[in-house]
Amino acid sequence: MRIVMLGAPGAGKGTQADRISEKYRIPHISTGDIFRSNIKAGTDLGKKAKEYMDQGLLVPDEITIGMLLDRIGGEDCREGYILDGFPRTIPQAESLTDALAKRGEKIDFAINIDVPDEAIIGRMSGRRACLKCGATYHIVSMPPKKEGICDRCGEKLVIRDDDKPETVQKRLKVYHEQTQPLIEYYEKQGVLRTVDGTQPLERVFADITALLG
Ligand code: AP5
Repeated sequence: MRIVMLGAPGAGKGTQADRISEKYRIPHISTGDIFRSNIKAGTDLGKKAKEYMDQGLLVPDEITIGMLLDRIGGEDCREGYILDGFPRTIPQAESLTDALAKRGEKIDFAINIDVPDEAIIGRMSGRRACLKCGATYHIVSMPPKKEGICDRCGEKLVIRDDDKPETVQKRLKVYHEQTQPLIEYYEKQGVLRTVDGTQPLERVFADITALLG
């Protein structure tokens, strides 16, 4: 099963993708996590990506598309995957569609987690992230068992550099301009499914699994 997660920054794509990955035993591939682990490791890719991410801008397609297509060519992706944060522009979506078509494959579901902008800012200020394994928490709705420590790998949790309110506003603007058109793109392909992301985490997950079967 090949799944694309759509939705505004903070809509809950990463949170739900983690759960889907566990239930359906397919890898969760987050371009944001790939960039953040490169930033943490100080690679050239990380340095380049940070320039854009800290401003709330998208990393250029020339960098992102090749990186993602390489990743989904991996052995662990043969039975499918969940893409979280990719595609984010029409050229990214077209590159993905073309690359998959060459292998006789296609995206089976594009799950759009719908959350209005007003609800996003509060979520982001309470988010805590693990830069080692990519796990995400929220100080109110999804706290870790031990404050400030990742349940999964024991790493110290941090506030992401791009979660400052002014950067979140910028990311929302970029989302509406460049990423929202993908909703129509996947609707035309007949694979779009929208869920109400303002519900509690477990309810959102139940709605998604009902759609995936
Ligand atoms: P990325 O890491 O992909 O960030 P994003 O899309 O902005 O999404 P987020 O990770 O912020 O949010 P999410 O929807 O995963 O929400 P989460 O589950 O954490 O990208 C970061 C940057 O990298 C981009 O700005 C760009 O610069 C660059 N980049 C990445 N991919 C790129 C690409 N393809 N092209 C170009 N540039 C790219 O949830 C948010 C919070 O809410 C959490 O604290 C969570 O616990 C809580 N929460 C989740 N669901 C609920 C719920 N139902 N109720 C209450 N709280 C909830």
